[in-house]
Amino acid sequence: MQTAGETRVLLLGGTAEARELAALLVDAGVPVTSSLAGRVSRPRLPVGEVRIGGFGGVDGLVDALRAGRCTHLVDATHPFAVGMRTHAVQAAERAGVPVVRLARPGWREHPLAATWTWADDWSAVAEAAAALGERPFLTSGRQTLGHFTHWEDRDVLVRVVEPLAPGDVPARWTVVLDRGPFTVEAEERLLAEHRVDVLVTKDSGGAYTAAKLEAAHRLGVPVVVRSRPASPSGMPELSRAEDVLRWLRGRP
Ligand SMILES: NC(=O)c1ccc[n+]([C@@H]2O[C@H](COP(=O)([O-])OP(=O)(O)OC[C@H]3O[C@@H](n4cnc5c(N)ncnc54)[C@H](OP(=O)(O)O)[C@@H]3O)[C@@H](O)[C@H]2O)c1
Repeated sequence: MQTAGETRVLLLGGTAEARELAALLVDAGVPVTSSLAGRVSRPRLPVGEVRIGGFGGVDGLVDALRAGRCTHLVDATHPFAVGMRTHAVQAAERAGVPVVRLARPGWREHPLAATWTWADDWSAVAEAAAALGERPFLTSGRQTLGHFTHWEDRDVLVRVVEPLAPGDVPARWTVVLDRGPFTVEAEERLLAEHRVDVLVTKDSGGAYTAAKLEAAHRLGVPVVVRSRPASPSGMPELSRAEDVLRWLRGRP
C-alpha cells in the first residue's frame, strides 16, 4: 500500500471540485501540483503548487509526469473537457501512473431534468431552442457559440467569463460577463430583464451554475440541455474529493 509520504499528484483542474480536492490534499500533507489550461485571465487559483498552460499534447503530459516524479494523475477537468481527458488516459498509461477521474454528478438526476429537452449534439440543441423560443439565453460556454451565431436576427443573451473579441457574435446579441456561483433570485432577475424565453445550457452538473435551472422553472422558461460527451474508457470515476484521497491511499 502506498503511503501519503510517497505520493505525488498531478491534478488536472480548472473546476471548483479540483480546487476542493487540492485543498483536501494540501491539508492531508499529500504533495500536489494543480494544472490549469490558462484560458482565463484571472483564474480562481487552488491552494498549493500551480502550473499554468497546455502540456503540448500527450508527449508533453508524459514528460511532465516523469519530470515531476508524479505517482498519480487525477483528472478533475470540466465534464466537457474531453480532449484533456483523452490525453490523461493515454499519458498515464505511457508513464505507468494510475489515473482517476473526479467528476461532479451530472444533472440527469436533477428533480427538474424530465422537464427539459435533452440533445446529444449542438446542432440538435440549436434546433430545439429555435423551436421553443425567440429570445434565447446561451450559457453553454464561449467554445460553443459558433453553433448559434447564425441567429443574427435574434435577441440573444449570452453569458461568458472572458470578454469576447469584436465580431465573435452578431452585433445584435447582448453579452454579459460573469461567473458562478449565482443565486436563483439574481438569475430570475436576469431572465426577466432580458425577457428570455428559452435557456440553453450543457450538463455541467453540480451546484455552482445550477441556479439558472430553478429560475427558468419559476418563470416557465423552457430549458435545452446538451448531454455530456462520453468518457474515454480506462479511467475509473469518483464523484467526491474524499474518495480520491482514499484511492490515493490505496483504499477502496
Ligand atoms: N469545456 C468547458 O465547458 C469548461 C468549463 C469550465 C472550465 N473548463 C476548464 O477549462 C480548461 C480547458 O477546457 P477545454 O474544454 O478547453 O479543454 P479541452 O478541449 O479538453 O483541452 C484542450 C487542450 O487544453 C489544454 N488543457 C486543458 N485542460 C488543461 C489543464 N487542466 N491543464 C493544462 N492544460 C490543459 C490541453 O493542451 P495540451 O494538449 O497542450 O496539453 C488540452 O489538450 C480545463 O481545465 C477545464 O477544466 C472547461
